[in-house]
Amino acid sequence: MNSPLRIALIGAGNMGQQHYHHLKHLAEATLCAVADPGPQAAGMAAEWDVPYFADHRQMLEQMQPEAVIVANPNNLHVSTALDCLSMGVPVLLEKPVGVHMDEVRELVAASKATGVPVLVGHHRRHNPLIVRAHELVHSGALGRLTTVTALWQLQKPDSYFEIPWRREPGSGMLLTNLIHDLDLLRHLCGEVRQVQAITSNAVRGFANEDCAAVLLQFDSGALGSLTGSDAVAAPWSWELDSGENPVYPRQSDQPCYLLAGTGGALSIPQLKRWQYAEAGAGWHQPLLAVQENFTADEALRLQLQHFVRVARGEVEPLVSVADAARTLALIEAIREAAETGRACAPALIG
Ligand SMILES: NC(=O)c1ccc[n+]([C@@H]2O[C@H](COP(=O)([O-])OP(=O)(O)OC[C@H]3O[C@@H](n4cnc5c(N)ncnc54)[C@H](O)[C@@H]3O)[C@@H](O)[C@H]2O)c1
Repeated sequence: MNSPLRIALIGAGNMGQQHYHHLKHLAEATLCAVADPGPQAAGMAAEWDVPYFADHRQMLEQMQPEAVIVANPNNLHVSTALDCLSMGVPVLLEKPVGVHMDEVRELVAASKATGVPVLVGHHRRHNPLIVRAHELVHSGALGRLTTVTALWQLQKPDSYFEIPWRREPGSGMLLTNLIHDLDLLRHLCGEVRQVQAITSNAVRGFANEDCAAVLLQFDSGALGSLTGSDAVAAPWSWELDSGENPVYPRQSDQPCYLLAGTGGALSIPQLKRWQYAEAGAGWHQPLLAVQENFTADEALRLQLQHFVRVARGEVEPLVSVADAARTLALIEAIREAAETGRACAPALIG
């Protein structure tokens, strides 16, 4: 039996604390240090009984962790991950993988050159609900996937934006939130060939968008739409509908993704699948609903357990840097489409 993997945490804010909450219950890993220059972090490290460092490079040198979770602000992700890779330390890197494709390409190259694995924190892919949805789509249960509707419409409280980096370039709804939905759409429906988009910051007036409408054409030929806003009193979002995180009161009867194909349809997170009893039936016959089952479990814990195996070299990362870079490329294509009014294709990753 391996001794617990010594994992350090870089960035002990909201997300870092969630990772710690799961890490402290894992037998196969243990927290060995915290690095974070913020005012709360030293107290956090003391409470968790691990050494504290303001600077992550000092921490890497002195503590020599076997793996690292990086949960600092978005615009530090790539430089921090590069520091870890240069020391040979595997990384669980929070999403987004980076904020610009140029820096992310550098990270893709470094991960390849060093052979040190990076798992990007698109944790929803680890959720058993999504695992089941993926199986259903790829087993052909929906026939040929044809139209996809995704919704991310909720209200963030004004207090969320009191933390400065959340109002500044390098943050924003697309990069912070819709990136999860776009990553899942890629995971479930395949790569996106091109997008059209309109974005607006009319409600909050910050540098970043608070509303977006996106049209997607997948390589498979399926067409999709994603509408998002963080400034509406609405129940349609993974956060409110899936029940994944209990801090969001659940709206369990509301869907956030609707996938429709020639042979059936699926609502997520309900995992309700519709189909006709006989081939060739149509709108005059009853459409039958089938409740698909799965065993609920915590995606963040499952991601962490997967990361321990990735760091030990037992499995490949479920979401590699190159894979996450494709989701970031999609975000960049959406921004370009919104700015130019043209249809744009996501950049190719080497
Ligand atoms: N997977 C998810 O569902 C999810 C959810 C929320 C946030 N996130 C991601 O997690 C990251 C952190 O978000 P958050 O909401 O926890 O933000 P936060 O502001 O609560 O926490 C960020 C932390 O990073 C620290 N920090 C700043 N500079 C640092 C540095 N140079 N080195 C180390 N630490 C530094 C800050 O002091 C703070 O404690 C973001 O990238 C965000 O996109 C992911």
